[in-house]
Formats: sequence, structure tokens, C-alpha cells
Amino acid sequence: MIYQYSEKVIIILASALLALIFCVKKLHSLYLSNKWNCQEVLRIKHDYFGIQNAKKLFAYRNEGRDLQMQRNLFIDYNTETLRQTLLGKDLIYTCSIENIKAVVNHQFEDFSIGYRHEAFKPLLGDGIFATEGPKWKIAKTVLRPQFTRDQISDLHNLEIHVKNFAARIREFKGEKFDVQDLVLKLTLDASTDFLFNESVGSLTSQDYVSGGYTFEEAFNKVQKYIFARGLLQSLYWIYNPKDFRECLDVIHTFTHSFVEKALKMTSSEIEDKIAKSGGYVFIYELVKITRDPKILHDHLLNIMLAGRNTTSALISSLILELARNPQVYEKLKNEVYLHFGDNENCDLDSINIDTMKKCNYLRHVVNEGLRLYPSVPQNYRCAKKNTTLPTGGGADGSKKVFIEKGQVVFMSFYSLQRSERFYGKDANEFNPDRWESIKNPGGFMPFLSGPRICLGQQFAITEASYIILRFCQLFPNLKSFETEYPPRISANATMKLRDGVFVSCS
Ligand code: HEM
Repeated sequence: MIYQYSEKVIIILASALLALIFCVKKLHSLYLSNKWNCQEVLRIKHDYFGIQNAKKLFAYRNEGRDLQMQRNLFIDYNTETLRQTLLGKDLIYTCSIENIKAVVNHQFEDFSIGYRHEAFKPLLGDGIFATEGPKWKIAKTVLRPQFTRDQISDLHNLEIHVKNFAARIREFKGEKFDVQDLVLKLTLDASTDFLFNESVGSLTSQDYVSGGYTFEEAFNKVQKYIFARGLLQSLYWIYNPKDFRECLDVIHTFTHSFVEKALKMTSSEIEDKIAKSGGYVFIYELVKITRDPKILHDHLLNIMLAGRNTTSALISSLILELARNPQVYEKLKNEVYLHFGDNENCDLDSINIDTMKKCNYLRHVVNEGLRLYPSVPQNYRCAKKNTTLPTGGGADGSKKVFIEKGQVVFMSFYSLQRSERFYGKDANEFNPDRWESIKNPGGFMPFLSGPRICLGQQFAITEASYIILRFCQLFPNLKSFETEYPPRISANATMKLRDGVFVSCS
């Protein structure tokens, strides 16, 4: 009896203590919020725990329209920052450039990448994309020099894969096909070649097969799994299905074999390989810096994840828009032919990073693709301590906002880059000409900014520009078969056009 009585008392005391801690924390937050002149953010209406909001979001997500829905919310509420409760979790959504810059740049130290490390670790280990703090700094020091101008300006090896890509397209004999599918293969082959000095050959059906999966299938699937784990935040560990583990096995076995091979080579053998490759090979350059197999393994997979789908999303979106806008395609072809000739009269050696830079319209087309279809359409960070955001509070959204330690802040680059504030009434339209008058784009951050800015920015722009340029030469006739516009988008860690990109070309 006494025992039962004391058990009840303990429960009541513990509950009271928790409630007290909660109240003290809330009061402290209120005090800081007042002290720092912050005001409340507009809150999206919600039911208990935001279950209806979550249902709505998932319904839009299934339809490939969640990015659009988010943009519409900002427009409907006439603000750039909103608070919403989803499944009991309080989230801040922002497309304000001031807030985004604060999170990723000016107040970088106030925010972390949340559970990304734990969620992505089975694929990315301790690589640059999944770590922060000292581990991230070391990775950055090793990787930054790999993206200097000389390394990224080699286009000879890329041309081999462009030729394979063109051959696959010609198999359709001018009939309708999904170009996105082939672009994904192209960027996979090009990135495995660049990283391992050996392409998986997904365009030529030579793809590496293990455990019933091709490398391509395994890599595509694994990305979906790790993104879903990231969404689960602290519950990431409950999502670890057998299929995920099998796909990881394929990828790690493949990567391991290349790391082993490279580590068995002597320095002179490596120099010899580099000379024979005729260009730059990532794995050999890294082996010169470190011979730790785990570090090499992690670097390779991180660069692969960072670079392959992002570049593919940009190229596929560009082909979609070029096919829909024949006048843009015509203007682009004219510029390409003027500088480099058509396919029959082109000296491929004349195409390089410098000569491509002279093609202003090509640059404008690529920028417009990056603007409307940011490969990383949304991102999030988690507050490491009590802090503020510069804007979004109060009735007119101009006041500072208090951010409590642990608060998750979602940033929508999709909404930012389609904002009428920066791009006017036709913000939703594909209009490369707008870049003629834009000198310092205010609302443009496809590669992020601040300390975690994309290391492969120039690499990606060079690769995408080259592929689009060659596409103009190889396929002057391009027709769109898109039925829905704007296209539906699958927004995971990177974006993909949900229904593919159906075109015909010759
Ligand atoms: C159109 C193509 C690309 C876009 C739009 C893009 C965009 C981004 C963005 C937004 C981030 C920041 C992610 C975050 O921290 O949350 C990032 C990081 C990164 N990107 Fe890219 N990327 C592209 C292509 C590439 C390529 C081709 C490579 C390498 C071959 C690359 C390498 C990296 C690396 C290493 C990081 C991590 C940087 C760090 O955390 O310090 N990216 N990229």
C-alpha cells in the first residue's frame, strides 16, 4: 500500500517537475524574445498536432505539387516566413532571402544540419555532405583543392559519354522518349568515370551488377531511403528496410573495389594512370593526399551524391524548357553555331571553359534553369542555441523572429527563386532574356551561400553548359510532349521531374 502510494507521488512529482521545466523554458524564451525585440511569426491554422496539415502536405507531395503548395502558402498569407505545426512538430518555413542568408551564412554557427549525419551515415559515412564541425572542416580542406579551374576544365572524357547519350537517343529514331532517364544515366557514367576512372556504363548497358541490382538502380533507391530517414528526424533509425541494406551493399562493394585497387598502386603507377586517362581522376588525386580506405571511400560517395542527381536535374529541366520554348532553342542554337559551328563543322577542341563563357545566352539559359528548377529545392537547419532571424515577425513580417534552441527552419529555394519581389510578374516563366538586365541577382541561391556553399558549382555549370551546347549541335530539331505545366516535381534531397521529360529530337 505504502509502496503504491509512493509510486503515485513520484509520478506526480516528476510530471510537476517536467511541467515546471517547460514553463521556465517558455518564460525564458519569452523574456529573450522581448529583450531581442522579436515578434511572433504568422502561424498557419492547424488542428491538434497539425494532423490535417500533414495529411494535406503528403497528399500534395504524392502529386508532386508540394513545392508549389508551399509557394502558394507564402502568396496566400502574403508573407515570406510562416510557422506551422506538422505532426506535433513546430516548424518555421521561410523563403526570405534575409532569413536564408542568416541561417546559412551570417549566423552559420547558430545552426546545425540536424539529424542529417545519422540519417545519411549508412551511405555517406563521415563525408563532407553528412558531417559538421571538425570532421566537416577536414573534409572541406581535402576536397576544396580538387575543384580548381584546371581540374574542372577537362571536357574530353565527358565527350565520350555525350556520344553514348546521343547514340541512345538516336535509337528512338525521332520518336517520343523520356530524356530525363537518359540524362540520369549520362551523369552517372560521367561521374563514375571522373571519380573512379571507370564508368559504370549505364548508357551502354555494361552497368555493374551485384545482388540483383545494377549500380544505377541501387544508387537511385538508396537516395530515396536516406531522404525519408532524414525527414523522420530523431526517428531516422526506425527506417532501415532490407532493400535499403541490400542496395547499400551493392554501392559499398563497388566503391570498396576501386579504393582497394587504387591503394595497391605505387606512386609511379598512379602518375602513369593519370597520364593515360588524359584528364583528371579524383580517386588518384585523393590517394596522393590520404591512404586511409574509409576516408577515401566516404569522399568518393559524398561527391557522387552531391554531383550526380543535381547536375542531371538541371540538364533535364533545361531540355524540358528548351523543347517547350522553340524561340529560345532557336536563339541558343544560333549562338552555339556562331561560336562553334554545327555538329558537322565543329572542332571539339575549341570548346572549353573560356570559349563557353563567351556564349552569354547559354549562360542566361543555364541561370534560368537553375532559377526555376533549383536542384536542391528546399533545405533545413536546426538551431543549436536560442537565436533570432532578421525578419518575418509582427503583422507586416518586418520584425525579428525569436528562434528557440532545437527549432527546425525550412528554407524554400524554389519559392525564393520564383519570387515576384525579385523577378516580377513573370517570375514563374522561363525567360532567359531576363538575365541581360540582372547584375546582382538578389533572390538566387541554387548553390547555397556561406561556408557550406557547393564546392562543385563551377564544375556543374561547365558540365551542364557543355552537354546543352552539344545537344544543340547533335539534335537541332526538338519537340516537347509535355502535357502538364508546370511539371510535377519529386522533391527529395534533390529534385527530379516526376513524370519524366518526354521529347522527340533528331
Ligand atoms: C546543378 C548542380 C548542382 C547544384 C544545384 C548543387 C547545389 C548544392 C547545394 C545547394 C549544396 C548545399 C547543401 C547543404 O549543405 O545543405 C551543395 C553542396 C555541395 N556540393 Fe553541390 N550542387 C551541384 C553540383 C555539384 C557537383 C557536380 C559537385 C561535385 C562534383 C558538387 C559538390 C558539392 C559538395 C562537395 C557539397 C558539400 C559542400 C559542403 O558541405 O561544404 N555539387 N551543392
